[in-house]
Amino acid sequence: AVEKTLSIIKPDAVAKNVIGEINARFEKAGLTLVAMKMVHLDDEKAGGFYAEHKERPFFKDLVAFMTSGPVVVQVLEGENAILANRDLMGATNPKEAAAGTIRADFASSIDANAVHGSDSPASAEREIAYFFGADEIHSR
Ligand code: CMP
Repeated sequence: AVEKTLSIIKPDAVAKNVIGEINARFEKAGLTLVAMKMVHLDDEKAGGFYAEHKERPFFKDLVAFMTSGPVVVQVLEGENAILANRDLMGATNPKEAAAGTIRADFASSIDANAVHGSDSPASAEREIAYFFGADEIHSR
């Protein structure tokens, strides 16, 4: 089925100047960018996005990292987009990410891991609505 998923190009990848290379991977894999903006998150916006991790030991570092510089938030659309994007990203920890994945090629640590992608249809729905209004999403 055609799905939408939320993607974030994180501060490390923005700083490395690889926004274009990452977007090219999405497009070459058949995913379409149907919404996109560059934002510098504050503690409240980043903390709310990652609310499910609030009790995890890495939460504070995660929020500090995600607010350390601008990010690109985007909506990818395509056949099985949620899983397709997770395959393109590779494992959360770049040390475990398969060769040729975005994280294997661009990430340097589990925090600075280049990209985020929704992990289920329910989280995709929540995460897309967290950043975008319906009038900002240009579905095909
Ligand atoms: P992301 O997919 O954006 O979702 C939560 C983020 O927390 C994850 O990517 C990692 O960058 C970060 N993180 C840091 N430590 C851990 C950990 N031990 N397990 C999972 N995620 C972690």
